Amino acid sequence: MCGIVAYVGPKEAYPVILKGLKRLEYRGYDSSGVALLNSGLKVFKKKGKVAELEDSLVGKDVHAHIGIGHTRWATHGEPSDRNAHPHQSENGKLAMIHNGIIENYSQLKNELIKKGYHFISDTDTEVLLKFIEDIQQNNNCTLEEAVRIALKRVVGAYVIVLIDQDNPDTLIAARKGSPLVIGIGKGEHFLASDASPIIEYTKEVVYVNDYELAIIRPDELILKNLGNEKITPYVTKLDMELAAIEKGGYDHFMLKEIFEQPDTIFDCLRGRLDAANASITMAGVQNNIDQIKNASRIIIIACGTSWHAGLLAEYIFEELCRIPVEVEYASEFRYRNPVVRPGDVIIAVSQSGETADTLVAIEKAKEQGALIFGVVNVVGSSIARISNAGAYTHAGPEIGVASTKAFTAQLVVLTLIALKVAHAKGSIDTQRFVHLLNELHDIPEKVKATLQTADAVKKLAEKNKDAKDFLYLGRGYNFPIALEGALKLKEISYIHAEGYPAAEMKHGPIALVDETLPVVFVATKDSYHEKIVSNIQEIKARKGKVIAIVTEGDDTITAMADDVIAVPEADEIMAPILSVIPLQLLAYYIGIAKDLDVDKPRNLAKSVTVE
Ligand code: AGP
Repeated sequence: MCGIVAYVGPKEAYPVILKGLKRLEYRGYDSSGVALLNSGLKVFKKKGKVAELEDSLVGKDVHAHIGIGHTRWATHGEPSDRNAHPHQSENGKLAMIHNGIIENYSQLKNELIKKGYHFISDTDTEVLLKFIEDIQQNNNCTLEEAVRIALKRVVGAYVIVLIDQDNPDTLIAARKGSPLVIGIGKGEHFLASDASPIIEYTKEVVYVNDYELAIIRPDELILKNLGNEKITPYVTKLDMELAAIEKGGYDHFMLKEIFEQPDTIFDCLRGRLDAANASITMAGVQNNIDQIKNASRIIIIACGTSWHAGLLAEYIFEELCRIPVEVEYASEFRYRNPVVRPGDVIIAVSQSGETADTLVAIEKAKEQGALIFGVVNVVGSSIARISNAGAYTHAGPEIGVASTKAFTAQLVVLTLIALKVAHAKGSIDTQRFVHLLNELHDIPEKVKATLQTADAVKKLAEKNKDAKDFLYLGRGYNFPIALEGALKLKEISYIHAEGYPAAEMKHGPIALVDETLPVVFVATKDSYHEKIVSNIQEIKARKGKVIAIVTEGDDTITAMADDVIAVPEADEIMAPILSVIPLQLLAYYIGIAKDLDVDKPRNLAKSVTVE
């Protein structure tokens, strides 16, 4: 949700910022802009993707050694040149970029209008900047001081970065609720929403915490709290390679990430699963094993695709650990005065680790005494840091806006946790435990085999690309996969799709069925197989077009369905890791057939840092 980049040092700032914005474009891509300081402040902004900003600046003087840049996902005001960041102060000397939402902006705006301030944009950002400017002028103080005073009155979430014409070697930045990473180079500093714009210059980074303010010059990084006390920056080393954030020969990040899944799942299991010795090593679980295995209840909090992973985890935990599980949308949980007891364990699932609703839901549960266990992909992210314990999914950077490899990694980690807890609790017998560990061990190879369905799925996509609606149905472990398949299709192809429990379909959605409606059954072999066969018959009897994801060798469904994609046989608990892959590919190839931007679907953003 908005990407920010800034640079100060001996390099040309504009190319560094532009490259950084392209890397962060997954966070928002409706407009972008840069502000550069070189004998005066120059601000350039453009509606559309970063490439349009780049084109508009060809031949312009962009020489500078300090600058800030922003790629926007609109919250206040439509995408336009006018609403794009950076915004400028009334006197034109300051420029600011912002990621987040200022909730009390209209009150502040009214106060400023009464004082004679004018507003060019509809954004909350311009209000905050002019509020800072007003404080600086009234108090005759430094910009740093004015920012500190302003932020004490601000309600909401933000990362802000300012440059000041009167202090042309200094960036001022502050954070609450949105991410900010500072890269430390030799006589230079880089700021960004995540590490991807920084990685090729330095691996030394500081993750700025909430309520911290940074004063950054080429040779100096000063970190303070809002009480003006200095804090020693905690420097960490990035464990990421540049190749991980590049396309590596694929046309799109989404396709690359789908095809990376055998490796990401392998990485996720590495050092944790020892099938030969029937053991699982997960320090985050082991250190809290008594609390987790004796939990009165597990509450899984997440949004979107991560919520689907949580839903599947509910089935797995209840089956293996016999602990009651509830799966909550973070956005609902945070506002509905939930009952959380000290014996409860919260599992927060998030790829980005920055999702605003999930973050606040965690804080709420933490206040009520629950243990927070984070299942997060981005190392050092906010959710990883506020959790009491956790396990990283190790899927590597996911750039495509639609989550694919991060989802399967979440499924693997959640399954490992459930197995470890069940083993410690004694709720699983040894034979089944060993069997499931061996099944997990084999999953990367089976994922590789599943990816060989890509050509068949591509043909299926061509055949169905003009459908107006899709219905996705599944039962048991495959029900969350039906939801995920439908979400992927909506995100990538803009075709309306609904996911439903296959049996529940006859209580309403069956009215939609006719010969034009593709109905995707996620129907790999499991305990409900005969039941789903009956559901397929119900659809066929109404002339529905059935596309079925089945286990290899399933002649029964193959004979009934119009089209079939077969995946390798696996235990019903692991089968969803395979059955989701053709659905990811189907969404991808339909998006491509419709000539859509699959890596940056309209209106979406990778990291939803607003509520
Ligand atoms: C996935 O394809 C989505 N773009 C979206 O639903 C995402 O899963 C959701 O916003 C949650 O994000 P998180 O995992 O980073 O918390």
